[in-house]
Amino acid sequence: MDWPKLTNSMPIQPLILAAGKGTRMKSDLPKVLLKIAGKPMLGHVLDATKSLDTLAPIVVAGFGSAQVQSAYPECVFVEQSEQLGTGHAVQIAGNNLPEGSTTIVLYGDVPLIQSETLCKVITAAENGLGLLTVDLVDPSGYGRIVRGSQGAVTSIVEHKDASTEELAITEVNTGILATSSENLVRWVNQLSNENAQGEYYLTDIIAMAVSEGISIKTTNPGSSEEVMGANDRIQLAELERAFQLRLANKLMSNGTSLADPNRIDIRGELSVGTGVEIDINAVFEGVVTLGNNVVIEPNCVIRNASIGEGSTIKAFTHIEGANIGAQVTVGPYARLRDGSELADGSKVGNFVETKKTKLGKGSKINHLSYAGDADIGENTNIGAGTITCNYDGVNKHKTKIGNNVFVGSNTALVAPVELADGSTVGAGSTITKDLEKETLALTRNKQIQVSGWKRPEKK
Ligand code: UD1
Ligand code: MG
Repeated sequence: MDWPKLTNSMPIQPLILAAGKGTRMKSDLPKVLLKIAGKPMLGHVLDATKSLDTLAPIVVAGFGSAQVQSAYPECVFVEQSEQLGTGHAVQIAGNNLPEGSTTIVLYGDVPLIQSETLCKVITAAENGLGLLTVDLVDPSGYGRIVRGSQGAVTSIVEHKDASTEELAITEVNTGILATSSENLVRWVNQLSNENAQGEYYLTDIIAMAVSEGISIKTTNPGSSEEVMGANDRIQLAELERAFQLRLANKLMSNGTSLADPNRIDIRGELSVGTGVEIDINAVFEGVVTLGNNVVIEPNCVIRNASIGEGSTIKAFTHIEGANIGAQVTVGPYARLRDGSELADGSKVGNFVETKKTKLGKGSKINHLSYAGDADIGENTNIGAGTITCNYDGVNKHKTKIGNNVFVGSNTALVAPVELADGSTVGAGSTITKDLEKETLALTRNKQIQVSGWKRPEKK
């Protein structure tokens, strides 16, 4: 995406207000550490500042500040132990705002803000003050943007301090603004708390700026969801959905086919090739890569995995920490765990679990099996109900299976054990010794036959 070019030559200083406790979240975590798409809200705000090439962001933290600080050590922290208002928060950060910089004030609980919008606010701040406003059908609770007869902004009045006339204004303050750091510090040091809430309002600096002849330029976000805050779990869930829909739309505009953009969840980084199809209720976590023409059937959970070109993940499959080659089929109902590596053209079918297992090219484990700590060669077939007994209760042991091996159904392979190339295991065997090349091993009892057998009768 092309960002609008920043004409402002001053260094940009992000200042993120994040001291609020978030009482309505009813959480032990500080509010800004609650997550959207698996990442704390504060992380999303920081992401938005990243492409702007800013100074290290300053975060005003209060409740749980130690936790916030250890989550984001790259930021400069200022502690606001008592939350006396947004103006007070900026005031105590004052000493940290470098002279000659432009400060952009952001909220840690407004996570959907986009870099593009921040660029617009910074550009609007050139030689004055840039203010991000939005028009709302229901503006209640927000600070209202008061404009003079010529249309210029003259002040912001908070909802609780507003007259009936002012309450009718639908243009509201988003809280995001930018201006010269020196002016900002000077203004916040002059604030008073004589208002309906007894707080130091950052918004009072607007009238101060105007009285000094400084122009206020307003700009709007690309969409109103960008400036939505999360005060309770319901709003948090709304932001989650809005964020997910944004990701889904991006995927679709890049050519990915989604059965339903409202039923996909991406909590991390998902990269996709061309011609990818994703059915409903897929959850992607961590770093996931899907090659060209990959098909993901319904209800799959895929975490930290890469899936090669033309592979199909059938319904209800769980994949974690796996590397899957091209033209592979997995599932339905398969579970690939950490260290599973499936080579091109291999197949893992229903109710199969793998862990730390390599499956060679063209090999198959089609039904009801467990392969753990196993190294399986090419074109080998593992029959239904085969178990690698890799754990002796204390240690794990390896099972090595060569190329062109055939393991009959219902077999227990007691590790450590090795089946050489071309060997065969008869169904129902318990294998405890290595097999040499091209041999057959069979451990089941011989079948006996009793003729004329009479079944017991009920007494
Ligand atoms: C503020 C604005 C209002 C605007 C609204 C947008 C003021 C006075 N009002 O109101 O015009 O329409 O946001 O959502 O600025 N915070 C601190 N320390 C404090 C107080 C707040 O860090 O002492 C942080 C909060 O954690 C939050 C942000 O500042 O991230 C905004 O605080 P909040 O109490 O939600 O402000 P509002 O009253 O909603
Ligand atoms: Mg608020």
